[in-house]
Amino acid sequence: MPAWLQERLEAAGGRVPFRTYMEWVLHDPEHGAYGSGRLRIGPDGDFATSPSLGPEFAALLAPQLAEWLEQIEGGVSLVETGPGEGQLALQLAEALAAGWPGLAERCTLVLVEPSPGLAERQRRRLAGAPLPVRWASFEDLAAEPVRGVVLAHEVLDALAIERIVWDGSLWRRQDVALHPQVAGPLLLQLEPGDALTPEELAVLKPGGALAEVLGPEDPRFPDGRRPVGWCTELHPGLAPWLGACGAALAEGRLLVIDYAHEARRYYAPQRSAGTLMAYRAQQATDDPLREPGHWDLTAHVCLESLEAAATAAGWRSLGGRRQGEALLALGLAERLHGLQQGPAAELAALLARREALLRLVDPVTLGDFRWIAFARGPRAGEAALPRFLQDPEPVGAAPAA
Ligand SMILES: C[S@@+](CC[C@H](N)C(=O)[O-])C[C@H]1O[C@@H](n2cnc3c(N)ncnc32)[C@H](O)[C@@H]1O
Repeated sequence: MPAWLQERLEAAGGRVPFRTYMEWVLHDPEHGAYGSGRLRIGPDGDFATSPSLGPEFAALLAPQLAEWLEQIEGGVSLVETGPGEGQLALQLAEALAAGWPGLAERCTLVLVEPSPGLAERQRRRLAGAPLPVRWASFEDLAAEPVRGVVLAHEVLDALAIERIVWDGSLWRRQDVALHPQVAGPLLLQLEPGDALTPEELAVLKPGGALAEVLGPEDPRFPDGRRPVGWCTELHPGLAPWLGACGAALAEGRLLVIDYAHEARRYYAPQRSAGTLMAYRAQQATDDPLREPGHWDLTAHVCLESLEAAATAAGWRSLGGRRQGEALLALGLAERLHGLQQGPAAELAALLARREALLRLVDPVTLGDFRWIAFARGPRAGEAALPRFLQDPEPVGAAPAA
């Protein structure tokens, strides 16, 4: 139990909702795993993400972003929220400058990063980037909204979630509480807290906002028929984030890439502890109380909740699919095929690139990530089907006669 956390909990009366705890241990500027800049992203750090495996991910994503940016005339912005180590931002800047020099001349990279420690690392990494780069908050951007594309790669899974528990008759918020022991140190523990208010439940119940989106035949979000102690997550941070993001963008697209499930999988009876996981030093645990402020905590996004919150915030949904399928539509198979033609002297490098490409589409890990696109602005209604949602070209096929 770190002293800072004990002090905070005592000041709060000995317990706080899980969402407050998650906000503190991830985003507190001094003690949070992200806020302090303590977490390291990459195969040698705490956890790996797609861009941290090398430049292949950005190379495949760049044509999609370029297509969207080219649809807008004049100065455009590529906004990356939660850029972590800044790897993806740099790789995309390099890919756009090399492949779309005309577009790159009128494109600015804007990074939205709440963690001062991470922003400092991003500044160092992007010092020589081939595009102009600036850092801004959503509030800064709302004062002068930009036109272009917002990218949110593994950001929504870091928003603090509410955990709720069924106690046999009521849905209760899960709290993190100090546990006084007769002897020995104070411990942290998870305990049922206040019951959800009728307003909070109304969103989820048949006839409520989420139920309306799901439609009558969809399984409803947890009704009373769950065993005592069954626990899951709600995403109260999604709507404010989508609203703030929307206020920052006058016209363009939002691409969310993240861990996500459909409501029927998310809230299936057998998923009795939700999706919350903690990561550190390439280790994973489902115990969110371990070494607070040193582990990444992450929860999947519920796809229907995301769609509902985005629509309410003025976004038009363009659809989504799994990363494996999205990357195939963007030419992953051609890239793999191309590696076979590489020079034998570079065999080790070619095999490493092949390995990275295959990891991006591995159906049980990164390939299961979801890509979801949204549009906003005066021409959002005319938005065409994004390239990543189209059918992939056949690879190695003989040219048409
Ligand atoms: C899991 S990391 C992902 C980093 C990077 N996008 C990657 O995939 O390698 C989450 C990132 O989101 C940032 N973040 C957390 N809350 C945020 C918010 N409300 N708005 C923007 N970024 C946020 C974190 O500081 C961190 O940079």
